Amino acid sequence: MKINQASFLMSNSTYQQCPKPDKPEYAFIGRSNVGKSSLINSIVRKKNLAKTSQTPGKTQLINHFFINEDWYLVDLPGYGYAKVSKVEREKFEKMINEYLTLRTNLVCTFVLIDVRHEPQKVDVEFMQKLGENGLPFCIVFTKADKLSNTAVNKNLAIYEQIMLETWEEMPQYFVTSSVNGTGREEILAYIDELNQG
Ligand code: GTP
Ligand code: MG
Repeated sequence: MKINQASFLMSNSTYQQCPKPDKPEYAFIGRSNVGKSSLINSIVRKKNLAKTSQTPGKTQLINHFFINEDWYLVDLPGYGYAKVSKVEREKFEKMINEYLTLRTNLVCTFVLIDVRHEPQKVDVEFMQKLGENGLPFCIVFTKADKLSNTAVNKNLAIYEQIMLETWEEMPQYFVTSSVNGTGREEILAYIDELNQG
């Protein structure tokens, strides 16, 4: 799929304020600093559409981007960030959980995972919860440019092993880099397929 148009639409703190749910929507989620905002920019080929930062916790709202005047990409705040207060964290969790479970036009959630790290409980449990709620998701391994292909494949095999403890098969996944565009075409093709469906 070619990107002809990409624009920032709005930021909201509740799912009720989000745009009218009449177009297919795809959300990017994952731990703080995993590269959600960067991947959105890489996918639409615009450097600063979604705000990125070296400091975790940059994205704090539900951000809607309108793509090809046909579908939405959504940048969400990161989860599992230790340095925010408990009250603050619970506020984010509520916002994200309500959005994920009640947003009627959400077609698929992309769960981002840093390919350099060994499987983290918070990610595995997050995906289990999506499954329990019947919410479709796929995995996006990020920052592949930071490892050799061999190391990427080794980490993928480790991840698959962990996932197979709870899932019958490895969920659909993508290996990506926002720096060199790895995985971009594959994600767009997948979204295109879902948009048709
Ligand atoms: P929060 O909004 O804070 O939850 O973070 P985020 O998940 O949106 O991460 P963001 O896109 O802001 O990126 C965090 C840091 O990782 C930035 O310094 C990015 O430049 C860097 N980064 C993101 N993706 C990649 C990647 O594919 N490769 C490399 N080398 N760095 C990346
Ligand atoms: Mg962000």
